[in-house]
Formats: sequence, C-alpha cells, structure tokens
Amino acid sequence: MKGKTIKDILSSTEENIEVEVRGWVRNRRGSKNVAFIALNDGSTINSIQVVVDFASINESVMEGITVGAALLVRGKLVKSQGGQQNFEVAAYQVIILGLADAEKYPIQPKKHSLEFLRENAHLRFRTNTFGAIFRIRHKVIFAIHNYFNNNGFCNIHTPIITASDAEGAGEMFRVTTLSDTNPPLNDEGKVNYKDDFFGRPTNLTVSGQLEAELAALALGKVYTFGPTFRAENSNTTRHLAEFWMIEPEVAFNDLNDNMDLAEEMLKYVINYVLENCKDDLDFLSKRQEEEEKGKKEEDRSMELIKKLQFVANNDFVRLTYTEAIEILKNSNPNKKKKFDYIIESWGADLQSEHERYLVEKHFKKPVILIDYPKDIKAFYMRANDDNKTVRAMDILFPGIGEIVGGSQREERLDILLQKMHEMNIPEKEMYWYIDTRRFGSVPHSGYGLGFERLMLFVTGMTNIRDVIPFPRFPKSAEF
Ligand code: 4AD
Ligand code: MG
Repeated sequence: MKGKTIKDILSSTEENIEVEVRGWVRNRRGSKNVAFIALNDGSTINSIQVVVDFASINESVMEGITVGAALLVRGKLVKSQGGQQNFEVAAYQVIILGLADAEKYPIQPKKHSLEFLRENAHLRFRTNTFGAIFRIRHKVIFAIHNYFNNNGFCNIHTPIITASDAEGAGEMFRVTTLSDTNPPLNDEGKVNYKDDFFGRPTNLTVSGQLEAELAALALGKVYTFGPTFRAENSNTTRHLAEFWMIEPEVAFNDLNDNMDLAEEMLKYVINYVLENCKDDLDFLSKRQEEEEKGKKEEDRSMELIKKLQFVANNDFVRLTYTEAIEILKNSNPNKKKKFDYIIESWGADLQSEHERYLVEKHFKKPVILIDYPKDIKAFYMRANDDNKTVRAMDILFPGIGEIVGGSQREERLDILLQKMHEMNIPEKEMYWYIDTRRFGSVPHSGYGLGFERLMLFVTGMTNIRDVIPFPRFPKSAEF
C-alpha cells in the first residue's frame, strides 16, 4: 500500500504536515463553494474528512467525486473545525482513481438492511458494519494462531478432500471428475468409482479431527484451522455449508484438561479482541443497541463489550448432560410446552432452544456440558464406565448455543473396534486411524471450535451469513 493509511494519519500527533490519502468516498456533502468528503480506506472504521475548495479544483474532477469513487488526495493535515474529528485534510489536489456511477452504485450513505447487503455481498465490504466485522475476523484468526503458538502447539494442515466421514453423519459433498451425464458403470450397473480421479468415492471433509489425532500421537500438541463442509440442509442463522473450524488435539489430555484448554483459549481470544479492536467493537456495540431499540427490555442482549468482558472474567459452568436434562425437564418452558421439542426423558438430543435456555435463562453464563448419551455422539468418544455415556463436551454460549464440540477420545483398541462395529463404521477403510490404537496408544482429547459461531459471539451479529465474506448455504453459492 502506498503512503500512510487513514488509521495512521488520524492518530497523527503533528499538524500542518503534507499528506497523501487514497480511499473511497463514503459521503459527500457541502455548499456551492466547499465540499466535505468522508474518505475511507478500510484501515479503520473512521473515515477522514477531506475539505475541497471549489476554487482550487477543476470542475470535471469535482463532478467525479461521488459516493463509491476512488480518490487520491493531496493536502495539508489541519485541526478540524467540526466536532467529529481531530484532523481533516485541506485538499489542494484531488485525482480520481476510479469513477463510480452515482446512479447505479448500490451502497448509498444510508442504512441498508443486512438482507440487501447479503445480496450485494461483493460490495458490502464498503460499509462500516462489514468493514468492522472483517477487520475483527482477521484479529480473531490472528489471536487463535497466537494462542496456540504461545502454548507450544503445532499447526497441521489436514486434507480437504477425504474418503472418510469423520462424524459418521453422512452429509457430505461429493468430489468427482466423472461425467455427470455418462459415468462409467460397473457390472451391477452402478457408478464405477474405480474410474474416478482418486479410484474411490471422495468428499469434502466435515472435520480434520481424525487426521489431527494421528499428528497429536506423535507431535503432542497440534491444531488445525481449516475449511469444513457440511451438506446438511439447515437453513438457519447458525449453519453454513462451508465454515471454518479450529481443532486442537492433545496427547495425554483427559476431558478436564480439554475443558481447561478450551475455556482458556476462548478467554484469550476474547481479551485479545477487547484490547485490539476497540473502535470496531464500539461501532458494533452501538449498532446492536440501535437494532434492539424496538425490543422489550428483557429481550435485549447485554451490551457487546460488557458481554465480552463478562465471559472473559467468569468461570464457565461445568455440568453433566444428566444434570442438564433434570434442569430442562423441570423448567417452565418445558412444563408449559413452550419448547418446540419437549424434553421427556434422558437420552433426548438437545436442541438449540434447550442449550440457550440453560445458558441465557438458567445459568446466565457459558456452560460446558459433558458425559452425553453414547447414542447421540460420534464413535470416537471415550466410553464411560456406566456404559451409557461418553466423555463428550459441548460448550454453549449465550445467543449462540453450541460453539464447541469435543471429547476425550477412545484410546482402547478393543472398545473402539466394538463401537465402530456397532455404529457400522467401516473398519477396513479406517485401518490408518485404528493403527494409532495399535501402536503406542495414549489417552488424548480435542475439540472443534466453529469459527463463525465465535465470530457471531464476538461481533454481536445474529446471522452467521454476515460474519463470513462469502457465505455458502442451501441454494446459494453466489460471488
Ligand atoms: O460438534 P462438531 O460436529 O464436532 C466435530 O466436528 C468434531 N470432529 C470436532 C473435534 O472434536 N475435533 O462441530 C464442531 C463445531 C460446532 O460446535 C459448531 O460450533 C461448528 O463446529 N459447526 C458449524 N458451524 C457453522 N455451520 C455448520 N453447519 C456447523 N456445524 C458445526
Ligand atoms: Mg456438535
């Protein structure tokens, strides 16, 4: 990038110096003789005010200064007359780098709905809201890598194309180079995947966990941070078909260590954002307040920065699934049949309405639920001695529900094999995973943190499609 950013210029301590700024016009107002231009270059939520005197600038240039246009401005940095900002640029030269057709430019200096901006996602980066979100997104990514690096973890890239279904959920995107009109067939008249690119059916991965386990059982502490894909048809504000997941995996850790790691890491990341994203958080906090103005007092969220501080400064509640079911069974919304899914007995899978009741109404804190029934969890989770539950842990966050899913892994070969058999997991194809239990198996644990769910929490946004630059969801792969 050429020259100083607007962020640097606005934090300048000198005045009356020559400056050169480049950016896009966010707004233009003024009188016959002077124009006040809000110029933004993405380095900060704050735009710089450029004051242009008509007498000194060519008329055709003045006409090109419209919302959305890209400019190079040369001028003097002076104390601002208005109360909004410390400094402004008194321009003596303006060069139009890129014109923007004012009639057609969709992003006007007014409030646009998030739906409208989603349909114009190629241009929504140009708004304050999305600028803030994506700057924070970068900081969160950076904080996550920082945390693991500081704590001796090794980042592992696990494959994106895979032949295994880690979660056993069977909701995967097929990857193939076979003809869709005339695929090769085998003797039974079925598609012959032996002729496919990899010589077998392959998919986009739903999780890097199984491969991360292999690495952890040699490198000790590892983590993945990669894209994951799920073809579940969930058209909700919490699901994407393509999302990013952070999956640490640690040899010798048991479930308690796993909970400690997740809680410490989440708090580190939240503190990092509080310390490093102040302007953007302030903006999003005000935005949230505006959005919720029409709501009843009790339905309003906690102020964004207070909420982040609250989570960073308080212990998460830890309890078992069995204890949670008791609380839910006796809860008002359950008794009054207000839940969409009424909790009748032990074994029920928890829906997001139940998770949010526990977090937002009952405990009013993040909650880590452990020891779930084995039938509603994946094959690799370590069996408890009761033979009914497994060493699973889900972390539930206010406003979100499940943000982390993890477990202590089944390290005992015989029990793992039996479980795979019961759950119809193909033992032969998974020999490479099972081998870790044959050669030097040790207790180990890990979890998956849904990156965009964390982003929802940190930004106070309510739709997951607004915290990823190019969301992928059913019937939408635009841009
Ligand atoms: O609970 P999940 O399915 O766990 C796993 O995939 C494990 N293999 C992780 C591990 O132990 N290494 O997914 C983990 C997290 C969820 O808690 C949620 O935050 C997020 O991934 N997630 C999604 N986020 C957005 N869109 C979706 N469709 C998601 N599905 C899961
Ligand atoms: Mg889960």
